[in-house]
Amino acid sequence: QRFIKSLSFALCLGAAAVTSGLAQAKTFRVAVGDGAGGTQHQLALKFSEVFKEKTGGQHDTQLFLNGQLGDEQATVNDASMGLLDFSILAINNVTPFSPSVGVLTLPYMVQSLDDAIALTQGEVGQQLVDNTVRDAGVRIVGWAYSGFRVLTNSKQPVQSLDDLKGLKIRVPNNEIMIDTYRAWGINPTPMAWSETFTGLQLGVVDGQDNPYITVYAMKFDEVQKYVTNIRYLFSIEPLIVSESVFQSQTPEVQQAILDAGQAATEHGAQWLVEQEDKIRAELTSRGMQITDAANGEQEWMDKAISQVWPKYYDQLGGKENLNKILQSLGRDEI
Ligand code: MLT
Repeated sequence: QRFIKSLSFALCLGAAAVTSGLAQAKTFRVAVGDGAGGTQHQLALKFSEVFKEKTGGQHDTQLFLNGQLGDEQATVNDASMGLLDFSILAINNVTPFSPSVGVLTLPYMVQSLDDAIALTQGEVGQQLVDNTVRDAGVRIVGWAYSGFRVLTNSKQPVQSLDDLKGLKIRVPNNEIMIDTYRAWGINPTPMAWSETFTGLQLGVVDGQDNPYITVYAMKFDEVQKYVTNIRYLFSIEPLIVSESVFQSQTPEVQQAILDAGQAATEHGAQWLVEQEDKIRAELTSRGMQITDAANGEQEWMDKAISQVWPKYYDQLGGKENLNKILQSLGRDEI
């Protein structure tokens, strides 16, 4: 009988803790696709600091950099099933799970940091957050911005689409990006992000594209020499939380997650502005050779826009929807 009494006392205590919102202290696991030193890392550090502060030190995070918890696309699956709490990854690796997110990986859609901020933090961004919860079971609670994805390779300077011929270029498993390279005249090699460094090192592929900051954080300068400044994709990197993990938190903890995500987003944008030029200069001093695309990138742009955009009108809410977005960014309609 004493046992039953103490058991019911323990059960009462447990119930009281739950109903009063005194959830147990928890260390949330945060997967980060890139290595240290980039915008993903900055987003993670700021998020962790503010989240801990907002929960009065009750909750904490543990960061797993460099894809230690699996490839970026695998982390979306894991978070969706509630096996992982948070992940920071490139938006192109979310698109396969929530097709409307493809609006952010459409070539030449996002043309500046201002465009990226307007799209992610305005009406379009809110719609994408809702769609991602619905389609993929993950909620975007913060955004990092890493700059344009530039093309790197180990073989030769590339300026024109003709120079691309014969190069094996790695792309993420993202249909829009695969189609973009096809429009540029080559068949790219889809490869998981976590395998890309080794793929470049072993010569399975000759090149890839990612922002300067990512090239630096991943030490790609050790295996790549030539860089072509192209502007087809401005890299946007969301912080996602498992929707089931989010929904199982108290309203206070949910608010702390959202506030920390907002603070980290603001910090990340500022960090990009301060660091991108320095990092590009550092890569040059390490021996990378940077060139611009020929003729103001015109042929790259023309081919990508004319061949890729129409294929994705339906998936992205129709041509009218894309024109509305272009208009909101102050750009010409297509
Ligand atoms: C990719 O190329 O798969 C991603 O952009 C990598 C990243 O998260 O930086």
